[in-house]
Amino acid sequence: MAVDTMPKVQATEPNPQGYRTFSLGEFTFSRDEYFVHIKWPTGRHVMSADAFLRALQRDVAWGFFYGIVNFDGVVGTVNHYGTVDLFAGRYNDSYRKAELDHVENFPSDVILATFKGILDDWTNASFDPFASPHETGSAFGPKQGDNRKATGRRRVTAQRMVGVPGDEALRSDATGHPINRHFTDVPQDEPQIIAEPGFEGQVCSFNLFAYLSRSDVTWNPSVVSACKASLYCPTTEEYILPVIHGNDRVEWFVQLSDEIFWSVEDRDTGAVRAKVVMKPGDVAAMPADIRHQGYSPKRAMLLVWENASPDIPGLIASGKLPNTPVSF
Ligand code: PHB
Ligand code: FE
Repeated sequence: MAVDTMPKVQATEPNPQGYRTFSLGEFTFSRDEYFVHIKWPTGRHVMSADAFLRALQRDVAWGFFYGIVNFDGVVGTVNHYGTVDLFAGRYNDSYRKAELDHVENFPSDVILATFKGILDDWTNASFDPFASPHETGSAFGPKQGDNRKATGRRRVTAQRMVGVPGDEALRSDATGHPINRHFTDVPQDEPQIIAEPGFEGQVCSFNLFAYLSRSDVTWNPSVVSACKASLYCPTTEEYILPVIHGNDRVEWFVQLSDEIFWSVEDRDTGAVRAKVVMKPGDVAAMPADIRHQGYSPKRAMLLVWENASPDIPGLIASGKLPNTPVSF
């Protein structure tokens, strides 16, 4: 007899607009033509359906990411790498003071199955949650088909480096990755390799700018090279980062092109800490105790450099590592 190991997803029949209502613990998620409604025992919250789906898409595709993924100032998830907290108001000073915040912990596969179910049911054929607003149709209206091609995209995660034989492939017109409208000026030539005798076939290189110019998604760091826990995760950014990311470690940003505005807040209360403008060549180390959201007026290339070591959150929480990698 086959054993069903898939976590159960609790969902109702479709409502009059065609969307199912999902429950997870004491949370319920429902949507209508424009909005998502989230309820928990001490409160309720409304988000625009497009913003919610953009945030949900990233939380799902990134496996809950590093630390906290705030969908907005009220709801989000905390990754405990095996289990995940789903919270409302937990990182919002006003909700905390009014004691209206609510947190529930779930095995990662249980919350992932529910989130995937919501994303699948609520994304209409016209909407690509990863695309820039200019490059997608509408998220709104009654239920109309699905967009599994977009919501089920495979995430690029190089084991060594893009372009290494057997690893992630380069992008081209032939692989279905045309040059983006904002990057038509990016040279497409690949580096020439002149290997020392005996090392032929062992040296690899690729044009990262050409690779990024052909990205069809926004705000989606992908691993293009890995050296132990050191991951280069460049991404192309346009419009607004759909989540407010609460760090559990330091992240380095290298602005490779164009300009991004960052809003930086205290991770736990949401109090404003800094406004940062990053121009090409700028480098920033985002501290481990902040949350941040980026705004990119034109498609920009950003290198996010992560240290994926599982030891880091514990070392920071116990004070053995500082929140900032450099002090001036
Ligand atoms: C971040 O939270 O650091 C982040 C997430 C997605 C991006 C860029 C930065 O595309
Ligand atoms: Fe971040």
